[in-house]
Amino acid sequence: MEEVLVLIVGAGPAGLATAACLSQFSIPYVIVERESCSAPLWQNRAYDRLKIHLAKEFCELPHMSYPVDAPTYIPKNQFVKCLDDYIERFNIQPKYLTAVESSTYDIDEKCWSIIARDIEKCTIVNYKAKFLVVASGENSEDNIPVVPGLETFPGVAIQSSNYKSGISYTGRNVLVVGSGNSGMEIAYDLSSHGANTSIVIRSPVHIMPKELIRLGMTLVRHLPMKLVDDLIVMMANFIFGDLTRHGITRPKKGPFVVKSGSGRLAVIDVGTVGLIKKGNIKVQGRMTKIKGKVVEFEGGKEGSFDAILFATGYKSTANRWLKNGEDMLNSDGLPNKELEFQNHWKGANMIYCAGLGRRGLAGIALDAKNISSDIKSSIESMPG
Ligand SMILES: Cc1cc2nc3c(=O)[nH]c(=O)nc-3n(C[C@H](O)[C@H](O)[C@H](O)COP(=O)(O)OP(=O)(O)OC[C@H]3O[C@@H](n4cnc5c(N)ncnc54)[C@H](O)[C@@H]3O)c2cc1C
Ligand SMILES: *[C@@H]1O[C@H](CO)[C@@H](O)[C@H](O)[C@H]1NC(C)=O
Ligand SMILES: *[C@@H]1O[C@H](CO)[C@@H](O)[C@H](O)[C@H]1NC(C)=O
Repeated sequence: MEEVLVLIVGAGPAGLATAACLSQFSIPYVIVERESCSAPLWQNRAYDRLKIHLAKEFCELPHMSYPVDAPTYIPKNQFVKCLDDYIERFNIQPKYLTAVESSTYDIDEKCWSIIARDIEKCTIVNYKAKFLVVASGENSEDNIPVVPGLETFPGVAIQSSNYKSGISYTGRNVLVVGSGNSGMEIAYDLSSHGANTSIVIRSPVHIMPKELIRLGMTLVRHLPMKLVDDLIVMMANFIFGDLTRHGITRPKKGPFVVKSGSGRLAVIDVGTVGLIKKGNIKVQGRMTKIKGKVVEFEGGKEGSFDAILFATGYKSTANRWLKNGEDMLNSDGLPNKELEFQNHWKGANMIYCAGLGRRGLAGIALDAKNISSDIKSSIESMPG
């Protein structure tokens, strides 16, 4: 049994940011990570051409700024390098290959009892912590949709987290499912590598040139959100032209209004729209069923494919190991108070969550600062 003041679960950007903030206050903590490196999502589960979607000034972690000469949109490998520097600078020493399996609140002792598995030694490690920080991520596990007949598909069917590049798909018929940032960018990557690419876009989506998002993020600091939305939607429609004939429509609410509600940012165009307009990437509606190589879409259209790439998102898994955290996280392992962004990061009994508010790296930075100052004031007000 190891007694610790603060236990942080997860050494992705959120766990690391919280650790850095705590160390600035000289508050001792232990940080555990189930995989063998920090930020494994970025190191192992992201495609090669990924860059941070937002301009670097909107993605800083606490006490870290990107090098002045770094590109505006930081490539994945450079981001990983920045995180490594961050770890070194704040002397963060995650306990790797340590997966938390359960956490329960001990009412008598007023502390969290955590059971973790040492994956290397195949042993159990027990922790007692006064404060528990859930930083296990919104992207802890792939979300796989149910499609009737998927088991009959003879080709490659993989998740976006296993996709690296389009290089091995040249000349193949490939279907990308999902129209978030990953799906759109992977479709672009496949098509640029000469794959005959189709993408399933099921619902309305805001696709925006990245410079317009950057402009919008600056303008919303000074102007009403609705006005900024109208302005950038008008500009995007002018730049892209009418996309409805390609099967792409916009949600009724504007991109920043959507973001302030759900946290979801518009899809940032990396060139996909141009390839769709040229007819290089074909847009399909919802998939209805799969029969062998043939995929059927809404409205009866069908196509034959060699590979299917699911870019259908991720899920949090915190609810599987966290007991007694119901007031903070719902059954999807995400904050109950999602809509009240200011307060989502704290639950009862000294439990916190970092990085679950659907606000990307900027949200992670805010969470880490809020959590560490809250822990600091709790410690200061403790008797003795
Ligand atoms: C492909 C992709 C691109 C993205 N691009 C951007 C972007 O450009 N800009 C932006 O702001 N955001 C982006 N995001 C969203 C978000 O900022 C990142 O996902 C970020 O890595 C989230 O950090 P995190 O620490 O909350 O979660 P993660 O990076 O997922 O870290 C959580 C860690 O917890 C560990 N863990 C989970 N369960 C346990 C357990 N039981 N025990 C021990 N350890 C556990 C995991 O292994 C993981 O390392 C992107 C997300 C994805 C998937
Ligand atoms: C490319 O994919 C589309 C959509 O599935 C299909 O109609 C077309 O025949 C394919 N082209 C080639 C050359 O295979
Ligand atoms: C959390 O941080 C934000 C931004 O720094 C601040 O405005 C807010 O008051 C903090 N919330 C609490 C409850 O301390």
